[in-house]
Amino acid sequence: MAAAGLRFDGRVVLVTGAGGGLGRAYALAFAERGASVVVNDLGGDFKGYGKSSSAADKVVDEIRAKGGKAVPNYDSVEDGEKLVKTALEAFGRIDIVINNAGILRDRSFVRISDEDWDIIHRIHLRGSFLVTRAAWNHMKNQKFGRIIMTSSAAGIYGNFGQANYSAAKLGLLGLANTIAIEGRKYNIHCNTIAPTAGSRLTQTVMPQDLVDAFKPEYVAPLVVWLCHESCAENGSLFEVGAGWIGKLRWERSLGAIVRGKNQPMTPEAVRDKWEKVCDFDNASKPRTIQESISVLSDALSQIESQGNVSMNATRSVVSSSVDTTGIVGRELATNVYTYTHLEPILYALGVGMSTKDPDHLKFLFEGNEEFCCLPSFGVIPAQTSMFDGVPSLPGLNIDLAKMLHGEQYLELYKPLPTSGQLTSVSTVADILDKGSGAVLLIDVNTYCGKELVCYNQFSLFFVGAGGFGGKRTSEKAKLTANPPKRPPDAVISDVTTPDQAALYRLSGDWNPLHLDPSFAALGGFKKPILHGLCTFGFAARNVLKQFADNDVNRFKAIKVRFAKPVYPGQTLQTEMWKEGNRIHFQTKVKETGEVAIAGGYVDIVPALAKPAQEPLMTEGLQSNLVFEEIGRRVKEMGNELVKKVNAIFQWDITKDGKTAMQWTIDLKNGSGAVYQGPARSSADTTFTLSDEDFMDVVQQKINPQKAFFSGKLKVKGNIMLSQKLEMILKYYAKL
Ligand code: NAI
Repeated sequence: MAAAGLRFDGRVVLVTGAGGGLGRAYALAFAERGASVVVNDLGGDFKGYGKSSSAADKVVDEIRAKGGKAVPNYDSVEDGEKLVKTALEAFGRIDIVINNAGILRDRSFVRISDEDWDIIHRIHLRGSFLVTRAAWNHMKNQKFGRIIMTSSAAGIYGNFGQANYSAAKLGLLGLANTIAIEGRKYNIHCNTIAPTAGSRLTQTVMPQDLVDAFKPEYVAPLVVWLCHESCAENGSLFEVGAGWIGKLRWERSLGAIVRGKNQPMTPEAVRDKWEKVCDFDNASKPRTIQESISVLSDALSQIESQGNVSMNATRSVVSSSVDTTGIVGRELATNVYTYTHLEPILYALGVGMSTKDPDHLKFLFEGNEEFCCLPSFGVIPAQTSMFDGVPSLPGLNIDLAKMLHGEQYLELYKPLPTSGQLTSVSTVADILDKGSGAVLLIDVNTYCGKELVCYNQFSLFFVGAGGFGGKRTSEKAKLTANPPKRPPDAVISDVTTPDQAALYRLSGDWNPLHLDPSFAALGGFKKPILHGLCTFGFAARNVLKQFADNDVNRFKAIKVRFAKPVYPGQTLQTEMWKEGNRIHFQTKVKETGEVAIAGGYVDIVPALAKPAQEPLMTEGLQSNLVFEEIGRRVKEMGNELVKKVNAIFQWDITKDGKTAMQWTIDLKNGSGAVYQGPARSSADTTFTLSDEDFMDVVQQKINPQKAFFSGKLKVKGNIMLSQKLEMILKYYAKL
């Protein structure tokens, strides 16, 4: 009886309700392909009354007669453990469970008795749960399992007189959906079928010729395939019958936003948008709960950031299922940005730098020795190139007036030049379909000559351009990161001026939304809003100062999501958390507490380790001999000297301007000591002078005061104590 192709040798299959109808067909099909089969059947009538062993025995005999392996089980599926035990006892394992057993108690809704309701749920839904649960851990441990749930068109679509059955049958789909998610990582797959076949269940409602035509054998091959180890299908629903198979999925209309910012949501607004709520043109097909929910967060951010504009925005319809393959990867524009020191200075002023902060001078004054360009200036040459290309994307309804700057990523490969020529090349990295809008990911590489200096990724949200049948996520997207759940390590506040946007725009972002009140009103804002990239610049320079000592060499990358608008004049509060080389941050509007930049981070390069100190000179210094001699004499004196002086003196002896040796004369601890190196406990007074000057002092060619006033001797710490030292040098350093 061997069938070639998809084989199940060594696999153990449990089919519930396999004494007749569909179950029997499954049992025979699996056995034919080498599986060992547990043929379960309670053997009652189609309403669930009575029991008998004959139904299961008959099918077992049939399989064995053909040379297959099978054992019977006569328990109800409500005794799930017992069914699985039969499989383990007879064949030592369980690989596949086909939940198929079922009965009918059809009644019009109001006539359904408690018992009719309960028994349908107990056999179909609870029975499938109990049998599957009994098999689960075996499947999990062996990292293989295939499960089938049997639903019904009556559940999917409803059917007169089958309310109890419909409810239980669609309950099985919910059960399967979650099992599929939980089982995935153990290679346990669970799929659901809604079969149509002639059987004793259907012969009461189907004409005989259809009962004969819709053979169970036209359903079994789907079940066999779904349960094969080579089939990756998981969590899916199929309708099957008569030799035809179709897959089902959820479809969701694009829907409509029915409330405006700070406005109550009313039933009248729902009524007025009803047509749109129910319009399946360009509908989306959410596959996961995450995809399902993402439309809600999109809606929230649209409502919040757009005021009531999205209420009025009519969705611009695009032809369904636009093929974006020709667009993704396309080069948009190449743009040359030529600048002098003026632009980086203007930009620095635009993001709130001020001469009030002495640290800022190197960003504001081209004559400063360390004059440099703020790292976040890297977005400026890139944005011109990007805007040049956007409007020309065919097929997608890209309307610049409905564009929101969603996210920004910038990575620097070297500090930006303070003037010169930068060439930016922009390409479409990906296009995402968020249902309510489209997200365009634009990558911009900026070169100085042939050298790549920085890379930007702009994430632009186009309201109303979604629903073209595209994917929702992209592996090319640079993602934001949530800050740690603890109070920030640092917070810096900046008050923006009423003219902040007017100043920032001079760096090249001319959108009137940031300056013109009537234009801003059109967008639903009470007044012009600050550029998101301006707030971004404030945050970037705060992180640079707080965690990278304003060293532009250490600024590697930054990512932000623009969550809420900021109005010029408001106070920005940048909260920062250090996690290794990543500085998480978010920027709040202090006056409202709202988060304007969310999920931000800056990656910094750790500070270069201090250059290893040149080895100190242990030879060739005349002073070494003097200190050694002092050491000997201190030893001789015992603690007498310690009592008298009670101080620690450190000596930094220089040679050719560099520290060449350190000595410590400790006349404080124990009976005193003289040793090489810095003071082990802190020095009271530290002297710095050259080897030659030290010798002059010791030989009294110059007295210490004179050496001090002429700058040859530097003293740190307690100067008065140095008088005591003079005495020591006089008496103990005589060579
Ligand atoms: P069927 O009545 O021929 O087979 C069901 C089998 O389950 C019977 O042999 C019965 O003895 C057994 N059974 C009933 N209660 C049991 C229990 N508590 N424990 C163990 N076995 C039990 O009916 P058919 O048509 O083969 O149905 C198979 C499954 O397919 C059922 O779940 C049914 O609801 C479902 N289905 C069938 C459709 C069809 O067109 N035949 C349509 C939609 C769903």
